[in-house]
Amino acid sequence: MTLIDGKKVADDIKREIAAEVEEMVAAGKRRPHLAAILVGHDGGSETYVANKVKACEACGFTSTLIRYEDEVTEDELLAAIGRLNNDEGVDGFIVQLPLPRHISEQKVIEAIDPRKDVDGFHPVNVGRMSIGLPCFVSATPSGIMELLKRYNVETRGANCVVLGRSNIVGKPVATLMMQKAEPGNATVTVLHSASRNIKETCAQADIIIAALGSPGFVTADMVKPGATVIDVGTTRVPDSTRKSGFRLRGDVDFENVAEKCAYITPVPGGVGPMTICSLMRNTLLAAKKEIYK
Ligand code: GUN
Repeated sequence: MTLIDGKKVADDIKREIAAEVEEMVAAGKRRPHLAAILVGHDGGSETYVANKVKACEACGFTSTLIRYEDEVTEDELLAAIGRLNNDEGVDGFIVQLPLPRHISEQKVIEAIDPRKDVDGFHPVNVGRMSIGLPCFVSATPSGIMELLKRYNVETRGANCVVLGRSNIVGKPVATLMMQKAEPGNATVTVLHSASRNIKETCAQADIIIAALGSPGFVTADMVKPGATVIDVGTTRVPDSTRKSGFRLRGDVDFENVAEKCAYITPVPGGVGPMTICSLMRNTLLAAKKEIYK
C-alpha cells in the first residue's frame, strides 16, 4: 500500500509556484494578488482563510483579507464583489462559504467575474469545465486529479466510483474523471443518497472517491483489493484528548481499508492540503491570464 502524501505534494507545488513567481518578479511583473472575503467568525472558515493567506505568503503572492460581520447585507457584499471585479490590482478572489442565511450564495457566486473566479464556482467556469474548455477548476477536484497524476494512478478505462454529488466535489470530480484527458478517461459511477447497491458497486471499483461527509462510511468490505481510495471527508468529531476538542475524520474507515489498497489518502494530510494549493495555482493562472486571455 502506498500512502498518498498530499502534504508533501502540496509543499512541492507551492515551491514550484514560488519559483515561478520570483521569475515573474525578476522580469518586472507584479506579484499575483489573491483577495478573500470572509463574513462572520465561523471557526472552520477562519482556519481555512488563515491557511489561504499563509499559502499566499509561501508562494510569494500578495493577499488581501476583507472581513465583514454576520450582519453585512447582501447588497453590501455584492458591492464589495463589484469593486474587486473592477480592481486591476487583484488577479483573483474568493468569498469564503458558507455565508449567513440572509445572503444568497448563488447570487454571490454569480456576481464574481468568471475571469477572477479562482474558486471555479461560477456557472461559466463549471460549464466550461464540463465541455473541456480552459477554465478555473474548483480546488478540491483539481487537487484530487493532481494527486492521481503525481502518483501515476492509472485512470484510463478504470472503474471509478464517486460517492456524493455535491456541486463543489462530487459532480466536478466525476466530470474530470470521465473527461477525454489524462488523468481521466475513466468509467464513472456517481453514487448518492438515493442510490441502490452502494456496497456492491463500490466493491467493483478500481478507484473510489469518497466525498459525502459521513465519517468512516467506506468500510473494508466495500473495497476491492488493489483499489485506489481518495478520501475527501473532513468531519470534525469530538476528541477530548485534543486541545481543540475535536479531530478530523474522513469518509473512509482508514485503519481497515488501508491494508487492502494500492493507494490511499489519509485524513488529515491527503486531499486537504491540495485544495489550497490548487487555489494558489488558479491565482497564478489568473495573474498570467492563461485561462481568459
Ligand atoms: N468553504 C469550504 N470550502 C470552500 C472553498 O473551496 N471555497 C470557498 N470560497 N469556500 C469554501
